Order: sequence, then structure tokens, then C-alpha cells
Amino acid sequence: MFGKRGNDSPAPVRAPTPERPQAQPVAAAPAPAPARAEAAPRAAVAAPSMRMPDPVPAASEPQPARARPESYYETKTQVFAALIDTIDLSQLAKLDAESAREEIRDIVNDIIAIKNFAMTIAEQEDLLGDICNDVLGYGPLEPLLARDDIADIMVNGARQTFIEVAGKVQETSIRFRDNQQLLNICQRIVSQVGRRVDETSPICDARLPDGSRVNVIAPPLAIDGAALTIRKFKKDKLTLDQLVKFGAISPEGATILQIIGRVRCNVIISGGTGSGKTTLLNCLTRYIDTDERIITCEDSAELQLQQPHVVRLETRPPNIEGEGEITMRDLVKNCLRMRPERIIVGEVRGPEVFDLLQAMNTGHDGSMGTIHSNSPRECLNRMESMIAMGGFTLPARTVREIIVGSVDVIIQAARLRDGSRRITHITEVLGMEGDVITTQDLFLYDIVGEDSQGRLVGRHRSTGVGRPAFWERARYYNEEQRLAAALDAAEISEGALR
Ligand SMILES: Nc1ncnc2c1ncn2[C@@H]1O[C@H](COP(=O)(O)OP(=O)(O)OP(=O)(O)O)[C@@H](O)[C@H]1O
Ligand SMILES: [Mg+2]
Repeated sequence: MFGKRGNDSPAPVRAPTPERPQAQPVAAAPAPAPARAEAAPRAAVAAPSMRMPDPVPAASEPQPARARPESYYETKTQVFAALIDTIDLSQLAKLDAESAREEIRDIVNDIIAIKNFAMTIAEQEDLLGDICNDVLGYGPLEPLLARDDIADIMVNGARQTFIEVAGKVQETSIRFRDNQQLLNICQRIVSQVGRRVDETSPICDARLPDGSRVNVIAPPLAIDGAALTIRKFKKDKLTLDQLVKFGAISPEGATILQIIGRVRCNVIISGGTGSGKTTLLNCLTRYIDTDERIITCEDSAELQLQQPHVVRLETRPPNIEGEGEITMRDLVKNCLRMRPERIIVGEVRGPEVFDLLQAMNTGHDGSMGTIHSNSPRECLNRMESMIAMGGFTLPARTVREIIVGSVDVIIQAARLRDGSRRITHITEVLGMEGDVITTQDLFLYDIVGEDSQGRLVGRHRSTGVGRPAFWERARYYNEEQRLAAALDAAEISEGALR
């Protein structure tokens, strides 16, 4: 019988019907006990893998979040508590998603009938969907996870969830029953990849089987309830053509980027949080010739290289005892012993910058990485300070010489205030004048105004540099004419600039 917990019958059977109220465990259901109610499904129901839109279950249909009255949440809490008391979760876990949903549907309908909740059919359907999501999946997060148009999901405690859609961050009406439910869902998410998050290990970074990147920081570190951030994985990564379509770069700029990617310039992609650095890095790697051996190092594997000869490496956080950590620096150093032709570092955040620079100027031309910074100049400063933080006691001038000798091009990505993402600079690192690193902008984005909907209007242009410093490289790869043509075509006449 698929009823009260503790029933040993192996076959799931429906819950008692309303015609037999005396047999209803619902009547004896305790007052809502969210923590307990939530703990049970966590233990018993296998966590489904995080997924992109899935035809079953139907309750995950992409829908914009709708505001609901307080009474809805109260009813849901009561129905949920009664449901948890009624069903045998270990039996439920043995069913496929559709059958489990059917079972839950029947029991929830019974509970609503017995408890006499006044609801419209539509409200009942909503409630059913929500409850199924709570028991079988990621609760209130399910509808967000099912949407393809969301880039990031940011949960700040039980009562506040933001999403980023089309470059804009917006608040949703999604709410969790309480902080315990939220923490349980966080736990369910990270347990898929064998991680744990609770008071004793309150910080957790994980990459889910579908590639989404997750960070959880739980109380007591997060004061108002767990903070969960999900960068949703996009199966179909954006391509340079799509970036051109979105206006992130002009067609001529895209050609220049293709050439930079192909001719083995050492590239740093610089940009703020979520500005599109990884996307751009992924785009550039498409133009690497297929016979090159590439090694990628990432904290959380996001890149999708198309070449046949790729080794993908991923860092490892320390285990619960604080042991076993493999840092980015360990990976990059190890790479050098793996006969790479190019090394690609997903995100350079610390002293590994030194090893990447070393690789760049010791024959691994065409290596690439991303750095969190807001302009090419700031990117140079960040590299310097990351080297200093790594405890290398080199004179500042030597450090700058290493940077100049290693990096050919900095590509700047930015997320502008209207939410659009643009490539704002393609800048070459040229040399030193005295103690200062000299650079040369090849390609820029100018903001020229704002349209009636508040969207920024701008244009990409080349700066009139006819022969970039990587000209010889371009020539070596027979790309110099294409490069010259793209630079020419992107030039805007003096008159138009004014
Ligand atoms: N030019 C673009 N136009 C529209 N969307 C974009 C563009 N570039 C990136 N995106 C989307 O923005 C989101 C963030 O992109 P991405 O992961 O590349 O940023 P990031 O700078 O690497 O972020 P982080 O700092 O978190 O590592 C992704 O969902 C991506 O698909
Ligand atoms: Mg990134």
C-alpha cells in the first residue's frame, strides 16, 4: 500500500479515498512541520538530475512567475504536511516521474477534498504542480530551471529570488516555504555531485551533471538564509555569428577575433561578472586549427572545444577534512608537462597567472585565459597584483616585462547598463616605455546615445591602426589580407566620428 510510512508492502497503492475518512491519515496530520516534512523526501527520493526543459513532468512548463496570495502558501504548507504524512516516500522513489506525479495528484486531490479547501481548478493544478516539484525535484526552482531564456538564478534566502533574462536582472515571485526548505533543496542539488552543504561546510561550489555551475553559501555565513547562485548551462553555446547578430561585435570585429584566435596570439579576455568572458573564449577556440593539441584548465568545465585533440582538466576543492585540493596553479603547472600546444585557462584568479604567462612565452603561443577586470589597463594591473599575491618577489619592472613578453592581445567584454553585452576593446600589448606598459587599441566600441526604450546605441570601429603588432603572425598564417580588409572596413571617417 502506497500509504502511511512504515508500511512494508512493496507495491505502491493509492492512498485511501475520501469516501473512507476514518482511514485517512490526513485527519491526524500534525500541524505543518516544514523542517521534518522536507527532511523526509530528501532522504528517500533520489535527486533527479538537473535538466533543461523536459516534456515530463508537465508542471515544469516555462511560465513567467505569477504573484500568489498569502493564503495560497498557507494552504500549500498544510497540504504538503498532510501529503508527507500520507505517502511512503521510499516507495515513491521507485516510480518513474510520471507515475510518481500521478500518485501525488490523487493523494493531493483527496487531501483537498477532505480538508475542504476552497480552490478553483486552476489553483488546484498550480498547487499540484508546486507540490510535485517540492517532492520530486527542486521545489519552487523547477519552473526556473525549465526555462531556456534564463542565464542566472540568484536565490537570496527563502523569500527573494532574482533571475537574469535578456541581460536584465529581475525579481520573481518565487518563494520557498522557509529557509530550511531552501537549504534542503540546495543540499539536494549539490548532493548529485557528491557534495554537502550545511552548517559545518557552508560553502559549496559544484558543477552539475548538465554543466550548470552552482554556488551555495549557507547560514551562518549567509545571514538571511542560504544564498544559491546558478549559472545555467546553455547546450548551444553562442557563436561569433550570433554575437554579431546580437550586436556584441560588428562583422569586421568578428573577423579580427577569428584571425586572433587562429594565428596563435596569446590572448587575455577581460570583463566583469557575467559580461560574457567564457562565451567569448569559447567562440575564439572555434578558430583554432584542428591539428593542435589543446589543454583546458577550468574550475568548472564550461568550455566546449570542437577540436579532436583536447584534454580537459578541472580543479578540485578540498574535501570535508580540508584535504585533497588541486588548485588552478597545480593544473597549469602540470599542463606544461603534457606537451600542450595551447593552454586555455577558464578563469585566471590567482598566482596561476604566472604559470600561464610563462607558458605563453615559452612556446605555447595561442594560449588564452579570462581575467575579471573592467578595462584592458585594469587587466594589466590585475595580472601584476595576482603575481604579487602569489608571493613572487620580483621587481615590478620584471613582472611587467614578463607580461609584455607574453600577452599579445586583451579583449574586453562588458555588460552595459541596459543589460546588453558588448566587446568594447581589442587592445594590443606592445612594450614598455620607461616603467609603463604601452598598449594600442585596434578596435573600440563607442556609445553614442540612447534610444526611446532606454537601450544604448553605439558602434564598433577600428582605430585606424593599419598594421597591428601581430601582422607578421597573420602573414605567417596567410591571414594578413583578411585582417587588413577587416580593419579598413571598420574604420569610420573623421567626419562621422564627430
Ligand atoms: N553577447 C552576448 N549576448 C547575449 N548573451 C550573452 C552574450 N555573451 C554571453 N551571454 C550570456 O551571458 C551569460 C554569461 O556569460 P558568460 O558565462 O560567458 O559570462 P562570464 O563573464 O564568463 O561570467 P562569470 O564572470 O560568471 O564567469 C551566459 O548565459 C551567456 O550565454
Ligand atoms: Mg566565466
